[in-house]
Amino acid sequence: MAILPILKYPHPILRKKNSPVSVFDAELKSLLADMAETMYDAPGVGLAAPQIGVSKQIIVYDVAPPEEKGDFSVLINPKIIDAEGQESGEEGCLSVRELCAEVKRAYRIVVEAQDAEGNAITIEAEEWPARVLQHEIDHLNGILFIDHLSSLKRALYKKKLKKILLEEKLAKDQGASR
Ligand code: NI
Repeated sequence: MAILPILKYPHPILRKKNSPVSVFDAELKSLLADMAETMYDAPGVGLAAPQIGVSKQIIVYDVAPPEEKGDFSVLINPKIIDAEGQESGEEGCLSVRELCAEVKRAYRIVVEAQDAEGNAITIEAEEWPARVLQHEIDHLNGILFIDHLSSLKRALYKKKLKKILLEEKLAKDQGASR
C-alpha cells in the first residue's frame, strides 16, 4: 500500500475524460488499496482515480462516522440512473485548495456501478452520502465542485488561487535556495 500524491486544480488530468475499467485483477485491487490509504491519510470522505493521476472510472469512499472508519466502499464505472429532490450543502475537495462552498445537489440518487470483482451493483443514497457520491462521480467526468458555483464566486476563487499558487512558488523557491 502507498499514499499517493493528490493532484490539485488546475492540474489538467482533473479535467480529462476517464476510461471505464474492464479488467478486475490484482493490479486493480492494489490501486483501490492505495486510493483508500490516500483518502484516509488526507483525510477525506471520498477519492476519485483522476485525483491521483489515474484516468479511470474508479471511486473509493467512506461516509461512516469517525469511530467506524476503515471499511471503505468502491464504485467502478458508476452511473447515476435516477435523481430526485434538491438540497444545498457545503463541499470541499482534496484537489481544490482552501475552499468550501455551498453546492446544490440532488437529495436522493440511485447509482449503478461495479464492485472490485466486476459484479454489477445498484446503490441508493440520500442526503450527505448522496452528495459525496455526486461529487466523486463528477470527478470521473472532469467536473469539480467549483464548476457548480456562480461565475462571480468562481472568479473570486480563481483570484484567490493565483495568490495561493504564488505563495507556494515563493516558499518552494526559498526552500531551494537554502
Ligand atoms: Ni473532490
